[in-house]
Amino acid sequence: MRIGLLGFGVVGKGLYDLTQSREDMQVAKVLCLEDITLPDAQVTHDFNDILRDETIDTVVEAMGGLHPAYEFVRAAMEAGKNIVTSNKALVNAYYDDLIPLAQEKGLLFRCTAAVGGGICWLSELERARRAQEITGVWGIMNGTCNYILDNMTRNGLGYGEALKQAQALGYAEADPTADVEGFDTWNKCIISANVAFGVSLEKDGVPVSGISRIAAEDVENFKAHGYVCKLIATGKKLEKGISAYVQPTLFPQGALEAAVPMNYNLISLEGSASGRQSLYGQGAGRYPTAYNVLQDCVDELAGRGFYGPCGEKTAVCNEEKLCYYIRGNADAWLESNKAEAWGNAVVTGPVAVAEAHAWLQNHPEAFLAAIAK
Ligand code: HSE
Repeated sequence: MRIGLLGFGVVGKGLYDLTQSREDMQVAKVLCLEDITLPDAQVTHDFNDILRDETIDTVVEAMGGLHPAYEFVRAAMEAGKNIVTSNKALVNAYYDDLIPLAQEKGLLFRCTAAVGGGICWLSELERARRAQEITGVWGIMNGTCNYILDNMTRNGLGYGEALKQAQALGYAEADPTADVEGFDTWNKCIISANVAFGVSLEKDGVPVSGISRIAAEDVENFKAHGYVCKLIATGKKLEKGISAYVQPTLFPQGALEAAVPMNYNLISLEGSASGRQSLYGQGAGRYPTAYNVLQDCVDELAGRGFYGPCGEKTAVCNEEKLCYYIRGNADAWLESNKAEAWGNAVVTGPVAVAEAHAWLQNHPEAFLAAIAK
């Protein structure tokens, strides 16, 4: 395999290092903004050098972001090159475009590092779904949020302080919006549900609520009632359809999710034969993430492409009912659904996921967390 590598940041450099000792693949050219030199690969600032090189059979996209990553990946596919990417935003935004294109052209496209970083989640999901029906996927898919929530829970820090520490350690970016507002988890949630259920979910129907409004008093409330808060992505196959959502969720202190420390991820599936299976590991970082990119390259060498069919466009049905912890200004809806008070906050009786998120849209100051069933 001769690789054209797009990007030489955390993941790109990691992949380059991991391929050094291998004979079955070689990074032939690297697209990089900086002027670097590599002993065994040509570095270029011009994507066309990779596109027009007919000896390059595989493009590994490790640039991140939507543009120009999309244009480069699409052009590479039009030119007949296989793709490996770690870019969750790209895969989610262009799922209906890139996955059918790969299948139409008989190209290989894999993106295992896009969900769970170093955890082989999507490749295990592919194996799981070919042997049974998957009825649920869920988990902690963002290391930055887990680090913040874990630090608040274990060390009693406020949100701002915990975020600052996450930034100082390099987990959270200077602009942490994509992580803390749940958008990164949202991308991973939709990709996971698509692969698990063989569909292409309508993204607008998947609500997301992040952790940026959580306060120390919420964490105290959770502790007093025996719960730990985690940001959770969920996809479920229910009688009425597929539900999918991202929200802070409270787990009893003895649950597996409650024990996940630092920046780790824990992603689970429920299968008709296997029951629950959970994968735990590093959701980010240079070598864990590059490890899964490398695994995808090895899989492509063996002829393995995407994890399943693209699937039909499918509307999301979030009628499932959950109880919610909500801290925000009381109104008629909250009063009528109130089951008990936890300090200044309300715990509701069962309300539809869609209804709770619709309420939150109109109450941007509020913090909401579902209670895990
Ligand atoms: N920002 C992501 C995280 C990186 O914190 O998990 C891996 O996708």
